[in-house]
Amino acid sequence: MANIICRPDWHLPESAVTPEAVYNDRRTFLRAMGFAGASALLSDALQAATAKDNLPLYPGKKSNYQVAGKATPEEWALGYNNFYEFHTQKHLVRHPQIIGKFVTEPWRLKIDGLVDKPWAGDAQDLIADMGKKGFIEERVYRFRCVEAWSMVCPWTGFALSKILDLVVPKKTAKFVRFETFFDPKMAPGFQALRNYPWPYTEGLRIDEAANELAFVATGMYGKPLPKQNGAPLRTVVPWKYGYKSIKSIVRIEFTDKQPKTLWESLSPEEYPFESNVNPAVPHPRWSQATERRLSTDERVATLKYNGYAAQVAALYK
Ligand code: MTE
Repeated sequence: MANIICRPDWHLPESAVTPEAVYNDRRTFLRAMGFAGASALLSDALQAATAKDNLPLYPGKKSNYQVAGKATPEEWALGYNNFYEFHTQKHLVRHPQIIGKFVTEPWRLKIDGLVDKPWAGDAQDLIADMGKKGFIEERVYRFRCVEAWSMVCPWTGFALSKILDLVVPKKTAKFVRFETFFDPKMAPGFQALRNYPWPYTEGLRIDEAANELAFVATGMYGKPLPKQNGAPLRTVVPWKYGYKSIKSIVRIEFTDKQPKTLWESLSPEEYPFESNVNPAVPHPRWSQATERRLSTDERVATLKYNGYAAQVAALYK
């Protein structure tokens, strides 16, 4: 699929959006933010980033995908997490007692189902391969959780369409199903929420997966993904509510049936399969008209498709 570089209405030069410190001295920035634990959490992933052919994968080449305004301070994006496999308290997920047993290197990934060229191997090999092909880039996206908080993050990774190019889906493939790891020894949430239909699964229509905005993130804020944000790789689907952006993926399966997702199985009215950001459609328990920006708590109007209508509205005609 073509790697479309666009200059849409929300394009701005990178210098206008990301805190300068992120691009200058990241360690000083983290220390200044009082977030000393970050480097320890990142150490596995940093090793992985340099292990393969010493490719400079992070932050990735600059892209035209930018957002007006400042990025959310890094310590918020790395410290306020939804990762139910570990904990339901957002501030606790990253704590070493909670996430310390999570091994993300090596990481077996399988891409299969209705495809001509199934792929299986270590996630870092796939990432290194995408790097060699020049597909690793940095995109700044708005991110809107169904709970009505939002952030703006620089993600490093590659277009999800590159996976489609790699495995060549058959004509009969209509959906893509994503699955997260399931290992109660590594994550306490499986036991704490034992009635949940684990593993966490998500899905997209194949034309949604092929859309230029659908992204596989392997890093954020210029470094490999921290464990609490979904190391070693996750999707980022910026026009949908955050739960569609599944973390720590072990399997990507192409299928002819709409996949059952974890949240849809738990509550289909609250978390339907499509889940496009839409201020006009309230969640059954709260309004979606506005959202709260992480770190400033500013209330702002929610935008249809989270501001990405120009790129995705045609999918829903
Ligand atoms: N993926 C997995 N495997 N487990 C989860 O609990 N939570 C989702 C999504 N992906 C979740 C997940 C939800 S509800 C949100 S809002 C985002 O991850 C949060 O991503 P972040 O912690 O990087 O901000």
